[in-house]
Formats: sequence, C-alpha cells, structure tokens
Amino acid sequence: MSQRSIDDLSSFAPFRSRLFRILQYLVLAVGLVAMTAITVPELPPVLRTWLVVCLWCCLGFFVAELVIKSWSKSHSNTASAYLLSASGIIDLMAVLPIPVVLFIGVPADTAWLLASLWLLKLTAFVPGLSLLGRVIAVEARPLASVLVIFLIVLLFAGVALYTLERAGQPERFGSLPLSLWWAVSTLTTTGYGDSVPQTFLGRMIAGIVMICGLGVFGLWTGILATGFAAEHRRRDFIQNWDLVTRVPFLHNLAPPAIIELTHMLRRLDLAERTVVVRRGRPGDCMYFIASGEVEVKLDPQSIRLSRGAFFGEMALLEGGPRTATVVTTLPSTLLILDVSNFRVFMAHHPDLAREVEMEAARRGQANKDVLPEKQRGESRLEEYRTDKEV
Ligand code: CMP
Repeated sequence: MSQRSIDDLSSFAPFRSRLFRILQYLVLAVGLVAMTAITVPELPPVLRTWLVVCLWCCLGFFVAELVIKSWSKSHSNTASAYLLSASGIIDLMAVLPIPVVLFIGVPADTAWLLASLWLLKLTAFVPGLSLLGRVIAVEARPLASVLVIFLIVLLFAGVALYTLERAGQPERFGSLPLSLWWAVSTLTTTGYGDSVPQTFLGRMIAGIVMICGLGVFGLWTGILATGFAAEHRRRDFIQNWDLVTRVPFLHNLAPPAIIELTHMLRRLDLAERTVVVRRGRPGDCMYFIASGEVEVKLDPQSIRLSRGAFFGEMALLEGGPRTATVVTTLPSTLLILDVSNFRVFMAHHPDLAREVEMEAARRGQANKDVLPEKQRGESRLEEYRTDKEV
C-alpha cells in the first residue's frame, strides 16, 4: 500500500488539524531548545532539572502521538503498514532511541542529543523533499558524472600538492590525507587558509583547482535546477492532463491535440467570490472551468457557468474589452489559455475554433437582445468592488 493511501485511509483526524500541527511545532521547539540548553556546563542545576523534565514531557507527547496513531489505524488493520511507512519510522525514531540508550547506560547529556531526531518530523510538512528525492533519482547519472570529475580533480590536486609541498611544509602537506584535506577545502572554494601552498607550481595548481571547484559546483547547481524545472513541468502536465479530460467541451479532441493543449494551459485555483475578469478591461486569455462555478454578471439576469464551460473568448475573438464581469461563486479550478496560445491552437484546430466562435456569437446576440442600448455602455463595476480580484 502506498504511503499516501495509508495516510489517507486511517489518519486520525485530529492529527491533521491546524491546532495539532501548531502544538507539534511548539513541543518540537521547546524540546530542541531544552536539548541545546542542557549542554551548557554553567547551567544552574535547578534549571537543568527543569529542562530535563521538559524533555521527558516532549518525549511523552511523541509517545502519546505514536500510540494514538497506531491505535486509530488498528481499526482498519493498517497499524503495521503505518509503522513500516516513512512517517511511522520517523515517529518510532522520535521515541525509541532515547530510552534505549539511557537504559544501556549512556550519560543523560549524550542520550538527550538524540532529541535532534525529532526534527525529522518536520519532513512531513516539506513537500519539496519528495521533489528533491525524485530530481536526484532522475538526474543520478549526470550528478554522478560530475561527482567523478570532482573526485578526479581532488585526487590529482592532492597528489600534486603532496609531491610539491611536503618537503617545505611537512605539518600541512606531509601525508596524502593532509593534502587531500587541502584539496577538498580548495575545491569546494571554502579555503580555510590553514594550509596554503608555498611553491610557485603549488600555487598554480591551487588556482586551477579553485576554478575547477567553481565549475563543478556550477554544473551541480545547473543539473539540479533544470531537474527541478523539468519535474515541475512534468507534474503540471499530469495535473493539467487530468483537468483537460474533465472539460466535456474538449472531449472530442484527438490525443495529440490534448497533449498540445495541456502544454499550453495554466492552472488557476480560486476561492469563491473572486473576480476573474472585469467588464471593460482588455482581455489577454480565455478560461475553461475544470471544477467549480462562475457567474457572468449580466443585466437583467446573471448567468452561471459550471464545469466544462468556457468564458473570456469574446474579448479575444473581437479584439475588444471584456463584455462582462465574471466572478467565482464556488472555489474553482480554471485552466487559462493565453491569447498567443489561443490563436495557435485555434489555427491548428479549425473545428474547435468554429465551435468557440459560434458560442461567442450566440452569447453576443443574447446580450444584445436582453440589454437596452443605453445600459450597455454603463459601468456596473461598483457592485463587485468588495470581491477579491485575481
Ligand atoms: P469576454 O468578453 O472576454 O469576458 C467576459 C465573458 O463572459 C465573455 O468573454 C464570455 O465568455 C462570457 N459571457 C458574456 N456574455 C455571456 C452570455 N450571455 N452567456 C454566457 N457567457 C457570457
């Protein structure tokens, strides 16, 4: 069973509440401050005792969390799956090691340092971590290639400096490990300055190693950055694909057209009562409703559009301003098609273009029929001033 389904299936509701999360942050903060403070030798004994009590309370909190989670999951027979899942292992690591090492006689000051494992609980709230894991997995080969270059330069530099400098500075370059230490600090551009080559050749090599260091880390950064961007695009594509297939108007599209459109669309999640387009403003995109509902503010009667409908096409087709204000009535997910992509897509798919044009013409005619000429020019924006705007 996947991590997600385990969590969804049986997570005890209070553990997902905001209040619990705040409480968990608080306990974590208190625990880590106490752990840090008890390492200070000058601490008054009374304060130390109180801090240790604090640490026991924090540990008790995490034990209670583990027990309640396991108990709540035992109803759906997923307790063992939870304990073997990543979050279960982290919860276990937060509670087991400290009592175990105290039991086997490790001094309390050292044992409580294991409270630093509590920090792992924060990983549950950092979505970027799974993304980073995936990027590293996908980019493993190029990252490994750069690592190999790093190791080659490291070893060559270490050997060269050992050969050149050991006679003059035996205490700094007298062994290969010492020279390698210099090479690591130089290659990572840390340059502590504790070991500096004295010979001319040694300094030349040092310069080359520093430049190589910049190159290696530049490459690493570049690989990770493009990996992150590609992964984001991939996730967006999957999400957009799912949303596009939910729009009935696009159901007749062939798969290549859906792929093209999926690349072009941007997702927009909106709360209710958010103004999406305002009457009279220029239009630079159209919208498909993937979920939720919007209201097109018209006189005498507004019109509601729900999942599958589109809007914002009239300004693009006529090159004029928006003909109506559109406001969400429910939390909604919209797919945005920018004007440039709109033109490209309509040129590639004339059938769809005709349908959009016919609907725009029908809407334009309906508006003309119901709206007296003199009202059409008047601004009706005031009534929406309290709404949020995209
Ligand atoms: P646009 O003029 O770009 O911005 C406002 C949008 O409201 C408009 O495009 C249409 O998509 C939509 N709209 C305008 N009139 C109607 C109508 N009568 N029925 C449904 N939608 C409309």
